[in-house]
Amino acid sequence: MKKIAFIVLGLFVFASTSTMAQKFDGLAETPPMGWNSWNEFGCNVDEDLIKETADAMVESGMKEAGYEYVNIDDCWHGERDEDGNITVDKEKFPSGMKALADYVHSKGLKLGIYSDAGYTTCAGYPGSRGYEYQDAQTYAEWGIDYLKYDWCDTEGLAAEGAYMTMRDALAAAGNPVVFSICEWGTAHPWEWADDVGHAWRISGDIYPCFDCEYKHEGGWSSWGVTKIIDMRKDQEIRQYSGPGHWNDYDMMEVGNGMKAGEDRAHFAMWAMLNSPLIAGNDIRDMSDQTRKILTNEEVIAVNQDPEGVEAWRYTVMDSTGVWVKPLADGDIAVAFLNRSQEDHEINFTWTNHVFGDPHFDYSFDFTETEYLVRDLWSGKNIGSTQKSTRFTVPGHDLNIYRLIKQ
Ligand code: GLA
Repeated sequence: MKKIAFIVLGLFVFASTSTMAQKFDGLAETPPMGWNSWNEFGCNVDEDLIKETADAMVESGMKEAGYEYVNIDDCWHGERDEDGNITVDKEKFPSGMKALADYVHSKGLKLGIYSDAGYTTCAGYPGSRGYEYQDAQTYAEWGIDYLKYDWCDTEGLAAEGAYMTMRDALAAAGNPVVFSICEWGTAHPWEWADDVGHAWRISGDIYPCFDCEYKHEGGWSSWGVTKIIDMRKDQEIRQYSGPGHWNDYDMMEVGNGMKAGEDRAHFAMWAMLNSPLIAGNDIRDMSDQTRKILTNEEVIAVNQDPEGVEAWRYTVMDSTGVWVKPLADGDIAVAFLNRSQEDHEINFTWTNHVFGDPHFDYSFDFTETEYLVRDLWSGKNIGSTQKSTRFTVPGHDLNIYRLIKQ
């Protein structure tokens, strides 16, 4: 009898705890916005860089534009101590991570950190495998708000289970954390990670070029902007993106060496695709042109639209793809992405087109409803959908319009 009671109790405890753990709800209801150290600084991270970046996020107007997370990528780690607790590299972070989190919080911003589901991170520092609950507890004690969780050194691990373990560990530690899955899309996280993380990478690493593939020694590649946009088109991943769970097209390379038009196209496409907007440049020292792109309020509003519907490619006109994103108030964002080097002149007769969503129930018929056409780069209304709109999309650039419902 006693034995049966124990089994029943055991089953009850198992059932209640196994359904208890979940990702933090109410976070990343719109795509996360912030900055990450990796693209520009690689392993050269330290507390001065992070503090100065937090200062710059405020002073540049980025905070006001919506950027919130200051994220330290790989290489902040020291060794594990004798109890297995992860420590920081004391030369790079002499004041410790808690003091740094306090500083970032004092600016009204949030602090993110990086770990890995395997034994070591991609740069060879201690990963969280076997230490998930202990590491999550440490992050909570430090006051960490965002965790990017990578996938190096994970031979023999199944992605879904490994990411669920860290999700549960974060839940057990109790401090709300945006959980950013960095598995590069191999195990198709869009199919299972809706309840696991708040965003999932869909590709290998980005490279600051418009359409190149950069081949590394060792047989792996980094990818230009259009390569990442195209990478999962066969899987039609847009249908899996929505509030609290986003396709992550990787941290941005705006301001890292591409031409202005290429940076514009990159930024606006990340907005159209609902990607997290995580700047990857040195925001302490950026050109006015870069700052203006990153803080364009009306393009950011497209990304942060509460409806959370990712754009689809409606059609291709020669070298130019036409992308459509339904917005919450009945407006529509439309982007014309020119992949060629040549300028493309277009005379677009709206009433010849019906934008029908291939996955959701949206359909826009311009013979039925009129919209004003607002150019989001110039901030000017340039016409109405009852007339044709004539414009030029420069080579390797993008025009973005908000169609304002009348
Ligand atoms: C992987 C990730 C990158 C970056 C590096 C750090 O390559 O995909 O975004 O975090 O690891 O080592």
